[in-house]
Amino acid sequence: MIDNVIQEQQQAVQTPPPAEGNNYKLFQQEAATLTRTLITGYQEAFQLIYLDPPYNTKRARGSRKHYRDRSAHWSEQLHEVVSNTYKLLRRQGFLVLSINQMELFNLKHICDTVFGSECFIGLFPVKIRHSERQLMINATYHDVYEYLLFYRKDKQTRFYTEQKHPRLEKFDHRIETLTDQPERRTIQGKEVEIYHPGQYKIHREEPAVHNLRRYIIAGKLATANWSGEFFESYLRPLGDNLLVRVPGLENEGLGYRWFQTQTAKRSSGVYFQSTLTAGRPVLPTNDLDFTEIVPNVYKEGGEGIDFKDSKKPEQLLEYILSITTRENDLVGDFYGGSGTTLARCIKMKRSCITSDNGAEAIGIITRRLANLREGKDIDGISYDFTLES
Ligand SMILES: C[S@@+](CC[C@H](N)C(=O)[O-])C[C@H]1O[C@@H](n2cnc3c(N)ncnc32)[C@H](O)[C@@H]1O
Repeated sequence: MIDNVIQEQQQAVQTPPPAEGNNYKLFQQEAATLTRTLITGYQEAFQLIYLDPPYNTKRARGSRKHYRDRSAHWSEQLHEVVSNTYKLLRRQGFLVLSINQMELFNLKHICDTVFGSECFIGLFPVKIRHSERQLMINATYHDVYEYLLFYRKDKQTRFYTEQKHPRLEKFDHRIETLTDQPERRTIQGKEVEIYHPGQYKIHREEPAVHNLRRYIIAGKLATANWSGEFFESYLRPLGDNLLVRVPGLENEGLGYRWFQTQTAKRSSGVYFQSTLTAGRPVLPTNDLDFTEIVPNVYKEGGEGIDFKDSKKPEQLLEYILSITTRENDLVGDFYGGSGTTLARCIKMKRSCITSDNGAEAIGIITRRLANLREGKDIDGISYDFTLES
């Protein structure tokens, strides 16, 4: 009895709330045909379209037994799908493609033609095999990489990034002004306030979010930094020992920046930064090593979801989704295979339309969804979602 209660409690904790407002759709359809149809109704609706088409390897092992990985019309078919994809993407949307080197350059050319080469973001090699585990001894060399191609519809669009938090221990200065009648001057179109000695105090305190970090304007800060240049050109000549408040300089979150001019003891000026803009974005990297994950990828999705040699690790999709989408965005994957993208979208609360032209793949995706609902995926969590068709 007690065991049952504990199990029920664990179950309750293990079940995340339903992905509210998210829609999931699964179609058995050919990619070019479906994407053409979707243009009516979904034009400019997708934030991310991920395509993992057959690589045209001419091989027929593993999951490739279930679909034909050989086509004389590969480029034409992909050209149509990529063109439709362009129309389906929002202006700030991304196209991401998985490919190996057989058709990499072909695919890059197709995408450059449709999106424009200026919208190519980059090539992300994905290491999927260990260098030393060589199984194909008849090959000329051991290929350990696949690739991701990243495109954006608008060349200004950036990846979503995490902010690296500022090191708080450096934010230990507080400025106190003792007059509300500072000298006012217009310098370079900016209404600057100048506090003379005796009209201000600079306190050194315990580090805190509301305090400021002090920078000495020397070296590169004096020559290759807007604040540094502004100080050297316009504030240094004002004289020693002044506190100066300059509005609208750089993107300082306060809306202004404090400077203190040089003193008899210190020939450099200083400026102060708030914590508001002190964090730096952590850029995504294209150094992707999945060699430890790929050998266990057959377990993902639970029992019956093996899709040998074609199934992508969920962590790869998690990475792509995290830098290109936010919760509730719409994602498309028209070569669904074993449903990796759909599964990850459910887990990360993105809406998703996925499809595959093969009955085998649709059967596997349906099983994967049942596993997800019943908590039979490898994470043991049961997910609540609605699948429309
Ligand atoms: C490389 S697999 C995708 C694997 C998938 N990303 C995963 O993680 O399981 C390619 C899939 O595309 C499907 N396919 C092949 N040609 C297609 C077409 N013209 N239209 C739609 N699906 C197609 C195949 O049935 C296969 O399931």
